[in-house]
Amino acid sequence: MKESRRKFFKSSILAGTSLLVANSTSASCIITPAQTEGPFYPIDDQLDTDTDLVFRKGAPKKAKGKVVYVKGRVLDQNCEPVKGALVEIWQACESGKYNHPNDPNPAKLDPNFQYWGKAITNNKGQYLFRTIIPGSYPATTSWLRPPHIHFKVSIRGYEELVTQMYFKGESLNQNDKILQSLSDLEKKNVIVNFKKVNNKLTGKFDITINKIF
Ligand SMILES: [Fe+2]
Repeated sequence: MKESRRKFFKSSILAGTSLLVANSTSASCIITPAQTEGPFYPIDDQLDTDTDLVFRKGAPKKAKGKVVYVKGRVLDQNCEPVKGALVEIWQACESGKYNHPNDPNPAKLDPNFQYWGKAITNNKGQYLFRTIIPGSYPATTSWLRPPHIHFKVSIRGYEELVTQMYFKGESLNQNDKILQSLSDLEKKNVIVNFKKVNNKLTGKFDITINKIF
């Protein structure tokens, strides 16, 4: 294991501990708003689908872009942590290109980026990814999508949730038709404020899903 990866996983454990403390009184139990899956959900199997998207197995170097840590808890409507949920994320690379054959964007793919990752929530419902801030990309000739990360959360007994997470302070958020279709409260639940924590740009995205049985 490379030294940088070892450091990442060591710090992941510490980050999870502090998350629990910081979050013990502030969990939201409002179901996270669903957002369109979009056309770029991965269709090709990847060799590497772990939680560190900055390094792709077999790639010679790390991905381009500003590294961020995205972490949070999966909860149900009663604020109970959901253990064992599959959390998938997929996103564009720094240039705004998806690793998907139907993406018409002429921007270049980053061969070192792992475009798709999967996590299983732990006993406390926690997950953690390391990735990069994705580039914006044209949805139409007059509409640029702001940087965003697609999420899919699934586990038996709960309604599957597909949504998108946004970065607070991005000017393109104001004119994004998908984000702006949400109410102000819903927007608050999917726009994440990234801050430096131990010199790592970190955002907390708690996700609430609907328990059926
Ligand atoms: Fe997208």
